[in-house]
Parts: sequence; C-alpha cells; structure tokens
Amino acid sequence: MNKKEEGRISTDHLKTEPSSSRRLIFPSGFLWGAGTSSHQVEGNNYNDWTEWEEKNSVKLAKESKTKWQLWQQDKFPEMFDPQNYISGKACDHYNLFENDFDITKQLNHNAYKFSIEWSRIEPKDGKFDANQLAHYRAVIHDLKARGIEPFVVLWHWTLPVWLSKKGGILNDNFEKYFCRYSEYVVNGLKDDVQFWITLNEPTSYIGNGYFSGNWPPSKMNIFKGIKAYKKLAQAHNLAFDNIHKISSRAKISFANSLSYNEPKNLNSIVDRVIANVFNYFSNEKMFRLIANKLDYLAIHYYRPKKIGLGKNTNSSPKNLSDMGWEIYPEGIYRILSEVKKYNLPIYITENGLADADDSKRSDFIKNHLIQVHKAIKEGADVRGYFYWSLLDNFEWDKGFWPRFGLVEIDYKTQKRTIRKSAFAYSDIIKNNGIEL
Ligand code: BGC
Repeated sequence: MNKKEEGRISTDHLKTEPSSSRRLIFPSGFLWGAGTSSHQVEGNNYNDWTEWEEKNSVKLAKESKTKWQLWQQDKFPEMFDPQNYISGKACDHYNLFENDFDITKQLNHNAYKFSIEWSRIEPKDGKFDANQLAHYRAVIHDLKARGIEPFVVLWHWTLPVWLSKKGGILNDNFEKYFCRYSEYVVNGLKDDVQFWITLNEPTSYIGNGYFSGNWPPSKMNIFKGIKAYKKLAQAHNLAFDNIHKISSRAKISFANSLSYNEPKNLNSIVDRVIANVFNYFSNEKMFRLIANKLDYLAIHYYRPKKIGLGKNTNSSPKNLSDMGWEIYPEGIYRILSEVKKYNLPIYITENGLADADDSKRSDFIKNHLIQVHKAIKEGADVRGYFYWSLLDNFEWDKGFWPRFGLVEIDYKTQKRTIRKSAFAYSDIIKNNGIEL
C-alpha cells in the first residue's frame, strides 16, 4: 500500500465528547454525498449493456415469476414488463444534471460520485469525442460551483460496443485501451478533479458476468472469469501510474464491494472453509493484486451474505429491503474494522437500499452511520460517506423496479420528488453528526 496520506483527520474531539452527549459527531471536513453511474441515470447510452438489454428483456421479464418472492411480485408488477429491462431514457440525467445538482445542494451534500460513460467519450476505436468530454467538464463545473466535490469513476461496468466486439475485458490489450481512454479523460478534467476511481466493483462484475452469467458478457466460464479478474487488476495498476504522471494531485482508488460473509451453518467445518474462501476472493484478493497502487480506499457495503452448503443456523432475517437483501448495519462496522489494517484514508463510496415506500431508508442511513462512527472512534480513518443512490435508477438486470433513490423518479414525466429520508440525511449532514 502507498504511504498513508499526510494530514490525517483528527478524531481527538470524538474521544473527548462528553459521555452524556446524545450526539455523534463526525470528523471535520467529512464528505457527505450520494452516487450515480452513467448507464443507470444518463439515458440514451449505446454500449454493450444496451445491446444485452435488447436481447434479454423478454427473458428477464419471464424469469421474474421464479426469481422473486410473491410479496415482491405483488408489489412490483412492472417486473413482468419487458420494457422494465430497457435502460432507454433512464432518468435523463444527461440533460437534467443541473436540476439534480440543485437538489443535492438543497440537501446539503458536499460530494458526488458519478461515472464517465466510455462509449460516449470513445464511440469508435481510438476516436474521441471532444463534445462529450466538454459535457462532463460542464457537469464538474456545475458541481464545483455548488461547492460539491466530484468523485469521478472511469468505468462503471459498461463498454463501448467496438470493444465488447473485440472480447471486452478479455482482449489482450484491454488494459492499454483502458489507459488510452483514462488518459484522455484525466487530461481533459484534471484541473477540477482530485478524486478518481478507476474501476467500479470489479469483483461484482466478474461474478455476474463470468460466473453466474447474469450480466454481459454472460459467459459462465471460470477460466475466463479468472483471466478477466486479472486483466481488470492490470488495467487499474497501469492507469494508476499513468494518471499520476498526468496529475500530481490526483488521488486514485478502485471501488471494492465488501460483503460481511458468515458461514451458513456456524457448526459446519465445510461451511466455514467455503465462507473463508469466498471471503478471500470477494474481499481480499483484489486488494492484493493491486497492492501499492491505492491512495485511499473506496469501499461499498450493502449486506451480509450467508455462505455454505448447510442449513442456515443463523436466525432468518426479518429486516429486508425490497430486493430481499438483509439490512445489517453492524456489517459496515466489521468491514471497516477489517480494512483499517491497510492504513489508508477510507471513503464509503456506496451504501444503500431499495425501498420504494421510503419506510426504512432513514433508519438504514442513521444505523449504518452509527456503526461508521463506532469504527472511526476505534481508529478507522473514514473521511466520507456516499449514499447509493441520489436518484432512483436503472438497476442493471433488474431494471427500474428497485427504488434506491433519495429522490424518486417518475419515469414517464421525469418529475423528481425528494423523499423524506433525503431530508433526514440532510439533517445529519447539516449537523455533521447524528442525534441519538
Ligand atoms: C453498484 C450499483 C448498483 C448497486 C445496487 C452497486 O454494487 O455499483 O451500480 O446499482 O450496487 O445494486
């Protein structure tokens, strides 16, 4: 790992806070925000996912009958409509970004994580579109004008069609293509961007694209999966060096999704072994492949996972999101306690849930932040938190029915409605702390 950044945020005031206090205060300078990704919100993209959606929407709609529980099918009948699985106009954030940033400003956010769409910047092999770069420059200027720090992701899972036709991540030159694209973007935006994220959740992408086959390129092939995993690590490593050559002030990471993994049957040795192996590949391996090429940690946490063959001996979860994901705030504390060994500043760049009624989101945010605060008090150098997501958006192979947003989107009219939980989060930001 890189030498830890200078200027570690002091957490001394946390220790000296009176024990009678009903408030948990976060370190000064803490970044608070939310995230989106290009394909999920922009609308009118044309990339490998767009083609995959066209081929798979009918199948995905049919599979909903077996994939989801009855309560989910009743609550979200739109899952049976093939149109649900076509990203199309999405949230039209490409055109409405100024309006959306007025909302983030109104909600007191001081940071925003978003991704650049590779297929817009380089629609043809080696041909770069300066107008699209100018679009993202305008996005960043708009954020900065509102006092919002941009966290820019270079790749959030979508590939230009020309590259997917050449084998995508498995192409022998993938890392060179990725670097050529990243250099173009960083050169154009470096004056206004400090925080870069090369790759979003490589492990999730490999798991779904090459192991389960649920996402493009829909290859169920363990050898190809392993090769793709290594290619992504190489791409990060090369881009890390190149971006630093272009921008000396750049702070670079990749975003790693960490789950809190427990054996299904705590008494089974087999389950314990499987859970350890799973834990190694999902939470550790990528960090090892790119050791020394991180300026900070960008980590995502959504849920705990029960791993193994045996029957579940842990009590069955009652607190679920609309997607059936268990809500387990303590998991974020456990993960932070684990990753503080890397001795790097930490930004939680995604944490959120699908909750169409907005009945669980306020507590979800508050309870996760209580656990984050606990980890900070015990020495984890957490410097920022980004709720996922600012807007309801296109949830990949699930389409539009899961509602993750602080802001509700009416996909017919593009009307934005700020949810109650967004105001609750906004109060936390205003106080830089939580009232217990
Ligand atoms: C991804 C997002 C996704 C979210 C919820 C994260 O792993 O980065 O794109 O929408 O999970 O599934």
